[in-house]
Amino acid sequence: MSGDLTVAVVGLNFGALWAPLYQLHPDVGRVVLCDPSSEALDRVGAATGITDRKADLADVLADERVDAVHLLTPLHLHAEQALATLRAGKHCAVAVTPALDLTGLEELVRAQQETGLNYMMMETGAYSDAVIHLRDLITSGTFGEVTFARGEHHQDMEGWPGYWVGLPPMWYSIHALAPLLAILGARPVSVRALGSGRLPDDRAATWGNPYPLEIALYALAGSPVSIEVTRSMFQTTRSPVESFSIWGEKHGLDWGRTTDETPLFYSWGTPGPGGRGRTVIAEPFTPPDLSHTVPARLRPVLRHPHNYQGASPRLVHEFVQSIIDGRRPALDAVVAAQWTAAGFAAHESAMNAGAVVEIPAFDVS
Ligand SMILES: NC(=O)c1ccc[n+]([C@@H]2O[C@H](COP(=O)([O-])OP(=O)(O)OC[C@H]3O[C@@H](n4cnc5c(N)ncnc54)[C@H](O)[C@@H]3O)[C@@H](O)[C@H]2O)c1
Repeated sequence: MSGDLTVAVVGLNFGALWAPLYQLHPDVGRVVLCDPSSEALDRVGAATGITDRKADLADVLADERVDAVHLLTPLHLHAEQALATLRAGKHCAVAVTPALDLTGLEELVRAQQETGLNYMMMETGAYSDAVIHLRDLITSGTFGEVTFARGEHHQDMEGWPGYWVGLPPMWYSIHALAPLLAILGARPVSVRALGSGRLPDDRAATWGNPYPLEIALYALAGSPVSIEVTRSMFQTTRSPVESFSIWGEKHGLDWGRTTDETPLFYSWGTPGPGGRGRTVIAEPFTPPDLSHTVPARLRPVLRHPHNYQGASPRLVHEFVQSIIDGRRPALDAVVAAQWTAAGFAAHESAMNAGAVVEIPAFDVS
């Protein structure tokens, strides 16, 4: 396929940050905006200069010039809209979370297989500078064998749109889980989890979830590493943070418990007094320059504060490049299903007092 794709950006709240990235991509010739809100269309249209504006996804899907659609709509709409997009013959990128149940994930994997089109989960946590760099350190052997990894995501959802109220925390734990899975290159196979705290009955009734916070322990396929994930959305008074730690044989990293803390990278120093233990050298962690990961026109925005430590431009590039190359993208339908199902399994475990729950592989042959 030639490099003059037309991409529609659908849902213009979070989507407002992504339309300019597609405009900068050298293989995108045209960007279309879509949102039922005329205010959003006018606002983002004026900011970007994009004049192709549609109020209805159906009109985007009927437009033969549109090659690909990036959905950034409310999360309960993603599964149905992604299926409609693929069935209309368009490649599809989707903001997390891809679906809200296992059936929805199975349908997505099937639709991707049947259409042969590209489907990509645009998970920012999997593509930050830190994740890319740590993955390199692990695959090169520099980091040593990994012993343990932990992720957490705490964000107060008071005042957010109603569909968030009472959502099972692990259904949206991907920002805590994805960095660990991306760094380790591993698939989660089973989980045991517990809920913590109690939502008021009216909030618990929305999604049938009593917990403001959930904590999970995952086993990984073909890996001796266990990982721990904690996620809260309500009733948890602390600084908001998306954070992870990874500790190994030669090095370790702590991202920090709050957004104000400097991430620390650990190495071994001299033996401790009497030869007991070793001193630890803790240095501020600064990923190297990773501008080679995106085309030149996207490099100036890699470090923009709204671009999730380089993740958003890299995700856009991977989605577009995978279409150009005619290959499946890195975070394809199967990976999206596996990682999302990991959250469903954790909530199921929490609802069953920590029982072990297996996570489907969504194997395709
Ligand atoms: N780091 C991340 O990966 C990250 C960060 C923020 C949000 N998100 C995800 O992005 C998605 C959007 O989040 P948000 O905070 O912008 O949501 P939002 O509810 O604030 O805004 C959604 C937008 O979609 C529009 N919309 C609603 N129905 C539509 C339809 N049928 N067709 C087209 N547009 C429609 C709305 O008018 C609105 O402009 C969510 O799924 C959220 O989980 C991901």
